[in-house]
Amino acid sequence: MNRLDFPTPIDREIKLDPSLIIMSKTNTKGIIEYANDYFMEICGYEEYELMGQPHNVIRHPDMPKVIFKLLWERLHKGENIHALVKNLAKDGRYYWVLTNFETKYNESGEIISYYARRKAAPENAIFTIEKLYKTLLAIEKNQSTEVAEKYFYGLLEEKGQTYDSFILNVLNVSQSSLQNYFSDTSIIKENSNKKGFLKRLFS
Ligand SMILES: Cc1cc2nc3c(=O)[nH]c(=O)nc-3n(C[C@H](O)[C@H](O)[C@H](O)COP(=O)(O)O)c2cc1C
Repeated sequence: MNRLDFPTPIDREIKLDPSLIIMSKTNTKGIIEYANDYFMEICGYEEYELMGQPHNVIRHPDMPKVIFKLLWERLHKGENIHALVKNLAKDGRYYWVLTNFETKYNESGEIISYYARRKAAPENAIFTIEKLYKTLLAIEKNQSTEVAEKYFYGLLEEKGQTYDSFILNVLNVSQSSLQNYFSDTSIIKENSNKKGFLKRLFS
């Protein structure tokens, strides 16, 4: 077989365990302060490579800037948000996640950190969002992020949707079932993950 018949690593998807959560915590600037075992296992980095690094270390080039702009606008306002994100592993493979971004405050009401809890994105949602992201990325590349942003908000306006209702629509779920998607049962499963910290430490 010719070498070119093999897919390049960047074209290969990492299959995620649908019951496990990929979790990370950052400071207010998006610098990684903590990531769980499953995060490390999937992205292929070790703790010492990730801690203290900006979160864009796993940014995939197929992700449009507009989505992160929207994410940060919401986080700065202290609003939680869900997003479908394509991430890049160390070896060039990719994985799609549905991410729940959450803001944490101290007792004085100041934002102190952000949490991201991710689960495998549903196949049908990837199909829809990938098409949109390709369009946004093409507009960003040929025009600008501002033009792509106007297009995105124009699209939402035409559909009579907010970003949040648009995401629910893409996922084809209600607000309450979206919350259940990140239920506590999954965390228990995550903690019993055989490829946990100790196993990786001693393997
Ligand atoms: C808690 C938290 C988790 C994040 N997780 C991801 C992630 O999984 N993938 C990603 O590309 N960006 C993630 N980001 C956004 C990055 O900080 C960054 O804005 C994004 O990668 C785009 O990079 P850029 O701002 O350099 O263009 C996260 C941000 C926060 C606050």
